[in-house]
Amino acid sequence: MNPIPYLDLPPLRGAAGTVQLPGSKSISNRVLLLAGLSQGTTVVRDLLASDDTRVMLAALKVLGCGLQTQADGALAVTGLGGPLQVHQAALFLGNAGTAMRPLAAALAVLAALQGGHFELSGVPRMHERPIGDLVDALRQLGCQIDYLGTEGYPPLALQGTAGGTLQTGREIRVRGDVSSQFLTALLLALPLAAATAPVVIAVDGELISKPYVEITLNLLARFGIVVERQGFERFTIPAGSAYRTPGEIHVEADASSASYFIALGAIAATAAPVVIEGLGLDSIQGDIRFVEAAQAMGAEVQGAPGRLTVRRGAWPLRAITLDCNHIPDAAMTLAVMALYASGTTRLTNIASWRVKETDRIAAMAAELRKLGATVSEGTDFIEVTPPAADGWRAASIHTYDDHRIAMCGSLAAFNPLVATPGTEVPVRILDPQCVDKTFPDYFEALFSVAQAAESDIPVITIDGPTASGKGTLAATIAARLGWFQLDSGLLYRATALAAQRLGVPPDDEPGLAGVAAGLNLRFDGERVLLNGEDVAAELRQEQVGSMASRISSLPAVRGALQALQLGFRRLPGLVADGRDMGTVIFPAAPLKVFLTASPAMRAERRYKQLISKGISANLADLRADLEARDERDKTRLIAPLRPAQDALLLDNSGQTIEQSVSQVLGWWAQRRPFQPPQGD
Ligand code: DC
Repeated sequence: MNPIPYLDLPPLRGAAGTVQLPGSKSISNRVLLLAGLSQGTTVVRDLLASDDTRVMLAALKVLGCGLQTQADGALAVTGLGGPLQVHQAALFLGNAGTAMRPLAAALAVLAALQGGHFELSGVPRMHERPIGDLVDALRQLGCQIDYLGTEGYPPLALQGTAGGTLQTGREIRVRGDVSSQFLTALLLALPLAAATAPVVIAVDGELISKPYVEITLNLLARFGIVVERQGFERFTIPAGSAYRTPGEIHVEADASSASYFIALGAIAATAAPVVIEGLGLDSIQGDIRFVEAAQAMGAEVQGAPGRLTVRRGAWPLRAITLDCNHIPDAAMTLAVMALYASGTTRLTNIASWRVKETDRIAAMAAELRKLGATVSEGTDFIEVTPPAADGWRAASIHTYDDHRIAMCGSLAAFNPLVATPGTEVPVRILDPQCVDKTFPDYFEALFSVAQAAESDIPVITIDGPTASGKGTLAATIAARLGWFQLDSGLLYRATALAAQRLGVPPDDEPGLAGVAAGLNLRFDGERVLLNGEDVAAELRQEQVGSMASRISSLPAVRGALQALQLGFRRLPGLVADGRDMGTVIFPAAPLKVFLTASPAMRAERRYKQLISKGISANLADLRADLEARDERDKTRLIAPLRPAQDALLLDNSGQTIEQSVSQVLGWWAQRRPFQPPQGD
């Protein structure tokens, strides 16, 4: 399926409930590499499933590591345990810095000692992310590394001949002030070079992002490598170091991902708390210290083993000035919390933002300004003053292929909590699937705890006669917008089928209404489960359709299905198709479409549909049947088929599906004017 081009978040007014967070990206990829280098099998639990870990897993597989998913979902990784199994490979590493840096170091060392030729590349942005300091450090050891594109950046070629040696006698110097990932890469890989003599790494300049280095040291210890260190200046990997599997390892939930839900709790959890599962205050991840920053802004946070409970404390939030060197990733979330603070928030010592997935200082400044905030930025700081209460603007947040910009941007949807009533705005997130990098189900998790006024949850209704193509149109629009779909005809069909099975006759109105009210229906992708059994195919049968048509004229049946239909209106939105979606069920829907096509055209479509399924059909009969059904639907006394007064008519007789889809999406865009993305 095509990726969703944008996701619109309606104005959100509260938050409560429990979220289970995915595993930490930093821990996941370090654990995978260490397990891949170890002797023996490591069972990895709660591994993050994301773009970055997929890239690492694909690389390990190419290199000959064993990867097996167990019945309980854990991944068993069987490592190389020393000798290379593959001496030549081209590895594509996407935009995953946590794969590029340590793999470059490990493969450079392995190629130098055992011989081999490896090429590492990524997406264009990866080729703009510096790696020169790491390469310089590895060259001091005698590794042979060539730049295949721009000097100082990936792609790289790493090579060596069998039986090579490395110069481990003197200390390896690495810069620490651009990215801590260079030091981490060396720490993870250089035990490979410490079989007979110790390896000493010395850091030049002030090391940034120290907490990530702590994670590295912590995990190395779990894999049998105890690094001796003097502060953050010198690290010694003892002679005879060898990676030993801990047997089993659990990946804790991602503390950076938790920051969005901590912020959400601080901003919007007024009645009941937001509970975050999978992470406690004892986390080994540096970003856990985001909690202190959030508390300084007003959050109330309680910690328990593996759980954080967050409520709103001070309100509006307090503006802060903070050196964010210790929480570089989570600090982005503070920049968005600043939208809800009284005064100006200043985040300093964040120069590393400029060399991440995108230039995050520039990106954050541009996007927060679109929302109406006043932002100033410098090489290593950002300063955010919130919009005036009536100054929020409906912004289209450009996400620069950066998951964190998308997740941060979503928090702006809580503007109703500070905006003057009547000036609340929705927020549009462009390319929302960029969250796949670390948190593929981020928006689902957000919607599971976010609360909106029902009237703010948008509904597009698509009504029309049988075989007008409204089901296909509705499904395509819903997929394109990332919304739910309600095929209301299916509810009438399911009622008809359930009644047939229970032996309730088609004229027993109270009996049928009872069946409708008690329907046990569940939708699961293409499947429609009635009492747990997939009846999707059966529901499409003509005979079920004609009984549905009959019973749909009974007021008690229509009434019984009303609450069920209203329940489909969920965040972030709903596309509902049927006969009375715009007239009866969602009369205040912000966009109503009435879809028609000529009877001849509809009969032909139905005919082709049946023939393609191997069902014999007669065009003239189909058309007569269709016209009879139209007549019945139009003339019935209750909820007759007719366009809502404010519906837009769409005759799709001469249109392709794509043309109809564009037409409806065009109408929707006119109803929801967003600030155009700037800087595109
Ligand atoms: O769209 P469909 O063929 O799946 O619908 C089956 C029957 O249900 C159809 O004959 C009309 C009825 N129906 C209705 O009365 N109101 C709706 N909202 C949807 C369907």
